[in-house]
Amino acid sequence: GLDTALQLAVRAAFEAGRIQQAHVGRPHRITTKSSFSDLVTEVDGLCEAAIRELIAAEYPGHAVLGEEEGEQGQAGAEYRWVVDPLDGTVNYAHGFPFYCVSIALERRTQTGAERLLGVVYDATRGELFTATHSGAALLNGQPIQVSGTPSLSTPALLSTGFPYDPGDSRNLGLLGRLLAMGVPVRRPGAAALDLCYVACGRLDGYWELGLKPWDSAAGALIVSRAGGRVTDEQGTERSDAPVIVASNGLLHPELLTVLKGAGGQAGGARP
Ligand code: IPD
Ligand code: CA
Ligand code: CA
Ligand code: CA
Repeated sequence: GLDTALQLAVRAAFEAGRIQQAHVGRPHRITTKSSFSDLVTEVDGLCEAAIRELIAAEYPGHAVLGEEEGEQGQAGAEYRWVVDPLDGTVNYAHGFPFYCVSIALERRTQTGAERLLGVVYDATRGELFTATHSGAALLNGQPIQVSGTPSLSTPALLSTGFPYDPGDSRNLGLLGRLLAMGVPVRRPGAAALDLCYVACGRLDGYWELGLKPWDSAAGALIVSRAGGRVTDEQGTERSDAPVIVASNGLLHPELLTVLKGAGGQAGGARP
């Protein structure tokens, strides 16, 4: 059942976290993928292999989609794990302590896929975020909730992220608009953890363009189960889109309006 699957996801996340902490701060074998800033270390691969091994031992019939090895296992399997073995690789490679592992399980349906559970583990801080499709979002076993920040001008604290493709500058205009309004925006560098920070109220909102399924699969479910909203840029509730807007729900319409390029006077007039 779901409990067994959740326990396995947690075990796999702890194992990946253990591997990450055993190697952090040491020299890495770093290679690049799509661009000079799109790094991958040997630790990404070690973590994904460990997670795949644990899943395969318990659920040999399930498919696994992981960032480093793609989709493997039974094609068309009803259940599919979506794994980011190390989210925040650039941070990790620099010893900047903001990275995590993200594991989700989904059941494929006729119309798409239903997220069953999500687990994000930040080994630096020993913080485990979990959620199931019908249960509460938890941080180390305690229920978490999105913030009550009502608007961007409260002020809200937002975060975003950027794709590795230096030619993709779409987000610069969006970021510029929010900064010009005086809204505090961070760029922490690990999408799954950004989402969990929205879920537990440390951030009021987060958006990013060009995300991959493994970046958001677990974190988006955790935000929803914590009472937040996850939509695409049009405001349609969905968590599998490349463009993700996540928030506490209260400031979602306002954030969407600014991201779409309209409105925006949070900071008021200039002196
Ligand atoms: C990246 C991080 C980053 C986000 C990028 C992702 P990776 O994932 O989540 O914060 O801005 O879009 O690709 O490559 O470190 O797993
Ligand atoms: Ca990567
Ligand atoms: Ca990622
Ligand atoms: Ca990754």
